[in-house]
Amino acid sequence: MLKTDILIIGSGLAGLTLALTLAEARNVTIVTKRGLPDGSSNWAQGGIAAVLDSHDSIQSHVDDTLIAGAGLCNRDTTTFIVENSHAAIQWLIDQGVPFTRDDTHETGYHLTREGGHSQRRIIHAADATGEAVISTLAAKIRAHPNITLLEEHIAIDLITSDKLGKDGANICVGAYILDREADKVITVSAAQTVLATGGAGKVYLYTTNPDIATGDGIAMGWRAGCRVANMEFIQFHPTCLFHPHAKSFLISEAVRGEGGILRLPDGTRFMPGHDPRAELAPRDIVARAIDFEMKKHGLDCVYLDISYKPASFIKEHFPNIHSHCLSLGIDITRQAIPVVPAAHYTCGGLMTDLNGQTDLGHLYAIGEVSCTGLHGANRLASNSLLECIVIARSATAHILAQSNKQPAQLPEWDESRVTDPDEEIVISHNWDELRRFMWDYVGIVRTNKRLERAQHRIHLLRSEIDDYYSHFRVSNDLIELRNLVQTADLIVQSAMLRHESRGLHYSRDYPFTLAEGNNTILTPNTPARTPKSSKA
Ligand code: FAD
Ligand code: SIN
Repeated sequence: MLKTDILIIGSGLAGLTLALTLAEARNVTIVTKRGLPDGSSNWAQGGIAAVLDSHDSIQSHVDDTLIAGAGLCNRDTTTFIVENSHAAIQWLIDQGVPFTRDDTHETGYHLTREGGHSQRRIIHAADATGEAVISTLAAKIRAHPNITLLEEHIAIDLITSDKLGKDGANICVGAYILDREADKVITVSAAQTVLATGGAGKVYLYTTNPDIATGDGIAMGWRAGCRVANMEFIQFHPTCLFHPHAKSFLISEAVRGEGGILRLPDGTRFMPGHDPRAELAPRDIVARAIDFEMKKHGLDCVYLDISYKPASFIKEHFPNIHSHCLSLGIDITRQAIPVVPAAHYTCGGLMTDLNGQTDLGHLYAIGEVSCTGLHGANRLASNSLLECIVIARSATAHILAQSNKQPAQLPEWDESRVTDPDEEIVISHNWDELRRFMWDYVGIVRTNKRLERAQHRIHLLRSEIDDYYSHFRVSNDLIELRNLVQTADLIVQSAMLRHESRGLHYSRDYPFTLAEGNNTILTPNTPARTPKSSKA
């Protein structure tokens, strides 16, 4: 058994920020299921929204967030996060993040613009902001004496006092972790456990997300007894590159922010007919407009055109997008870029307060896995990296005020009643089937019938996977599939409960928006108190 003060599951921006801010006072163990950089944070392009210059104001950023969130953002949460945005960016600058400079600007940095923002307020490192941030923080993490980093380790489930049959309030005491290389499950006991596992884009066939985004933290937290909120609000990014050889490549919203125009194949501009803000309308509106035009004209994709700008401007602002597209034969300085919408961001998640505290004692959730109330029914572009930093920093202050007593001995993972899997095809088949029907039935436009079909299929998959899980040894793919199905179930349940269209949830059966918006909150059944084995 491995003992640590703080167990952080996930090495994206949320997890790394927390680890670095805690490590002066606590010993920290980070487990991450692939290599350290493998997460959405490292893939972030556009940048981080923050109030940085004298033309902008807290009120303006808060208002833009509330408008995009379509009536469901929590105003106090939004104000708290925006008020702390300047300090969050300063912290990154202090760590050495090389944001793009602009010596003519009062801040010394170039600020770009994205959909839904009434001001230029996105600080960025060209079009590869995430990589600049993560590589800077990663170097510090790897060198820190109080931080143990376990790569290629995937968390299977949280260990709770209820599951151990202990009396008193249910608390988290650690987690079971599969060492993917040694193929061995280890038990980690921790005074405080933090889920920083990111989102669930892989629940859909087409996504901008990396392979790690399988909803693990949401599913683990739910199984441990935490409530989830607003899972129906899956954000589809309007512009993912459409190309047979490009897997999950985003064309940043900053391309539209700097003047990119959406066109049909014949060159017709269509966004002004959908919204007066045209290409800079919030994402839900742009994604739905593209979906509408593609269905109306029977298209495989639409086109994003920035080629009318000088080639030097394009190469300076979008070097990563320019070179990636060029490697696929698309020269964006001369051609429009073929794009389609794809699943991008999980607005809902485990419910937390402003310190990242979940419903369960000693368990925190920070970053995309959580639902703090900032994103409401539709996240405003570039607000998520901001949320990762601000909430990680407030979680640090909260954790430091808690007792650091580690739990006593925990039971080892019990594999006495399982054998090696006989048919791995069950996993790959179910994985493909789930992602396909979620795309077809629970996508940008929903209906009651489609949701019912999806729910029926989820129930069949769940029983097959639960059966498989209880009979066979765990593997990385089985852990992820189990979590994907759980997350899909929460998305569909939440979508079925919303009898209106709002933000990212659009239903043909309920095309109107109710006067008053409510959060969709799901509460898990109280977990069984005395399981027969640790795999319960
Ligand atoms: P992630 O960065 O996704 O990290 C999750 C970590 O958890 C990973 O290390 C993963 O391996 C680990 N993990 C997951 N499950 C387990 C498990 N069971 N066991 C162990 N480890 C596990 N937002 C912005 O604000 N601005 C942008 O410009 C922007 N651009 C984006 C571009 C792309 C292509 C994508 C996909 C997203 C973008 N976003 C952007 C959204 C933003 O990047 C994410 O919301 C944010 O990075 C999430 O950070 P995180 O730390 O919560 O999770
Ligand atoms: C982008 O660069 O378009 C992504 C920004 C975001 O998801 O916030």
